[in-house]
Amino acid sequence: MSSQTAGASEHDTKQDTGGPIISVRDLRVKYGDREILHGVSLDIQPRETIAILGGSGSGKSTLLRTMVGLEKPASGTVSIHGTNLSRASASELDQVRKKIGLSFQGGALIGSMTVAENVALPLREHTNLAGSTIDVMVRIKLQQVGLIKFQHFMPSQLSGGMKKRAALARAMAMDPEILFFDEPSAGLDPIIAAGIDNLILNLKKALAVTIVVVTHELASAFLVADRIIVLDGGHIVADAPAEELKRSTHPRIQQFLNRVADSDTAEDVDYLSLFMEQLLKPSHMEGR
Ligand SMILES: Nc1ncnc2c1ncn2[C@@H]1O[C@H](COP(=O)(O)OP(=O)(O)O)[C@@H](O)[C@H]1O
Ligand SMILES: [Mg+2]
Repeated sequence: MSSQTAGASEHDTKQDTGGPIISVRDLRVKYGDREILHGVSLDIQPRETIAILGGSGSGKSTLLRTMVGLEKPASGTVSIHGTNLSRASASELDQVRKKIGLSFQGGALIGSMTVAENVALPLREHTNLAGSTIDVMVRIKLQQVGLIKFQHFMPSQLSGGMKKRAALARAMAMDPEILFFDEPSAGLDPIIAAGIDNLILNLKKALAVTIVVVTHELASAFLVADRIIVLDGGHIVADAPAEELKRSTHPRIQQFLNRVADSDTAEDVDYLSLFMEQLLKPSHMEGR
């Protein structure tokens, strides 16, 4: 929570009401009769980078989708900027949605459009900006994710990592106040995945936005997040600054962290220890 104002001076024109930017209270979400989230509460402060960490099926994507209003809670509330999504009018929801950038796990690019056209899409849909202005904004986003040279490529011509980068650029198109990423590096080989994690770190430093990353990758969570919320079986079992969580001796947390590590392949464990080593170097956050 202490990091919320760090490096944010050039972006202080953004509305800041002083309270949490996202507030979740006693959230229960069901698919049919099956309850997936069993009363989840959390607060996210402006400009925090949060990782929601948990094993497969723990309810991470469900939580993310509910936080952005794509799933309706059975009970409990999600508020963004103090707007309760369940009670909001259509125009209030629209206002909230303009402040949110989403990059979903299966959030595919549109195959018939170039990379630049994919990134431009939210701007064409939600703004009346002139085409030339949109072009400039798209170029800036593609520059930020290292894809400027590939702007005219079709998605089918991109590698897995490049597709993820393009999806991140599209999520950033509207200069949202909150970026939600669901498993941004899933399915990539470790080196490429590390590149995506570093990109998120750089975005965090450059943009002063609030970032919520859902991941089952322990190393990613520890690398990018200020605070880690651990979800297990639809319950929050930990919510702590990354450093504090690493030191936690709580058996359930240790069990969970070990289980995540155990379920990784040998290659992933190498990747994990590599990054844990880097993470422990004090200079790690500087000079990238
Ligand atoms: N649309 C859906 N309909 C029914 N069950 C779902 C749906 N989406 C997810 N589930 C179930 O809810 C549980 C949590 O899923 P999910 O939130 O995707 O977990 P995670 O992202 O942590 O892997 C899983 O058991 C999954 O099968
Ligand atoms: Mg998921």
